[in-house]
Amino acid sequence: MRILSVVGARPQFVKLAPIDKALQSRAEHVIVHTGQHYDELMSDVFFRDLGISAPDVNLEVGSGKHGEQTGAMLSKLEPVFEEYAPDWVLVYGDTNSTVAAALAAVKLHLPLAHLEAGLRSFNRRMPEEHNRVLTDHAADLLLAPTEVALSHLANEGLAHRSVLVGDVMTDVLYRIRDESQSDPIPLKDVAPGGYFVSTLHRPDNTDDPDRLRAIIRGLAALSNPVILLAHPRLVARAREAGVELESGAIRVVDPLPYPQLVRAVASSAGVITDSGGLQKEAFLLRVPCTTIRPETEWVETVDLGWNVLVNSGFDDLARAVQRAAPAATDAAPYGDGHAARRVADALLKE
Ligand code: UD1
Repeated sequence: MRILSVVGARPQFVKLAPIDKALQSRAEHVIVHTGQHYDELMSDVFFRDLGISAPDVNLEVGSGKHGEQTGAMLSKLEPVFEEYAPDWVLVYGDTNSTVAAALAAVKLHLPLAHLEAGLRSFNRRMPEEHNRVLTDHAADLLLAPTEVALSHLANEGLAHRSVLVGDVMTDVLYRIRDESQSDPIPLKDVAPGGYFVSTLHRPDNTDDPDRLRAIIRGLAALSNPVILLAHPRLVARAREAGVELESGAIRVVDPLPYPQLVRAVASSAGVITDSGGLQKEAFLLRVPCTTIRPETEWVETVDLGWNVLVNSGFDDLARAVQRAAPAATDAAPYGDGHAARRVADALLKE
C-alpha cells in the first residue's frame, strides 16, 4: 500500500515522525513537504533530529496571504498526487497545508485520512478552525486523538468515518523525553525550575500592537526569567509595532529544535504560550501552563487543572502564571504513546 503524507509546518513535522516510523516496513510512505515553513530552524532540524525520512517532494510554496499560499499548494499538489496515485493521502492537523492537500485529494477522488481530526475551538476567527472543519468533512477516515474530539465528530454526523487512535504527539514526546533526559538544559544561565518558557505566534496575539504590547509587559513583569522562543511572525510584528521584546524578565531566543524544546520545558517552572502543541506537551511533562487565548482545543489540560486560560488583564499575568501547583494526576487523555501504530493499523485495514 502507498500512503502519501502531506506536511508543511513545524508541528506537522513532529506528528510525522512517529507515523513515518510506524509505516516503515508496513507500507510505502511518500512524504510531500509543501514548503509552508522553510527556515532551517522551522523545518530541516525537525527532519534531522527526529530521524524522519527526507521529503520525496518539496513544493517550496513559502509564505504568503492565506488564499495565495493555499491556492499555490493546491495547484502544485495536484500533479504530484496524479504521479504517485497513492492509496491514501494522509493530512495532519489544521494548517493551510492540511486544507490544501485535503481539497487536492478529494478533487481527484483519492481516499483522504485526517490525523488529529475532531479538534474544535469554536472560534471562527481562527484560520485553523476553518481548516479543521473543512478537512474533517472532506475526509474518508477521521483519526481522532481524544474522546472529546471523537464526540465533536459525532455531533457533526461524522461518527461512521471516525476512529479513536490517541495522540501521536504523545508517542514522539515520550520517546524524546526519555532519550534527552540526561542532556543539559539548552539555555544559558538558568537553574532547573527557575525560569519560564514562552511562545507567541497566533495572529490574534501578534498582529494587534496594543494587545501584543500588553502581553509583553505582563511577561516582562514576571519574577523569574522568561525564555521567549521567538517565532518569525512575532519578531516581525513586534518590530513593525515598535514593541521591544527583550525587556524586564524576558530573554529572546531563537525557536529550539524539538529535543531541546522538550528538555527546556521539562526543567522549567511553567509554560506561557498560545501554541496548541505546547499546552499538551507541558501537560504530558507535568509542567503548569498558562495559555494566552480565549479558549483551547485541548480542554482536558484545563479540566485537569494544569492549564489556565488568560485572555485579558495581562498586567496581572503573574497571578495566573505564579499560581499554586496543580494537583498531581495520572490521567492520560492523550493516549498511551502508541497512537501511530493504531493509525498504521487503521490505514492498512481499509
Ligand atoms: C502556521 C499555522 C499554525 C501553526 C503554526 C506553527 C496556518 C494557517 N497556520 O502558522 O496553525 O500553529 O504554523 O508554527 O497554516 N516565516 C518565516 N519562516 C518560516 C515560516 C514562516 O520567516 O519558515 C514567517 C513569514 O513571515 C510568514 C510568517 O512567519 O509570513 C507566518 O508563517 P505561516 O506559515 O503563514 O503561519 P504561522 O504563523 O507559522
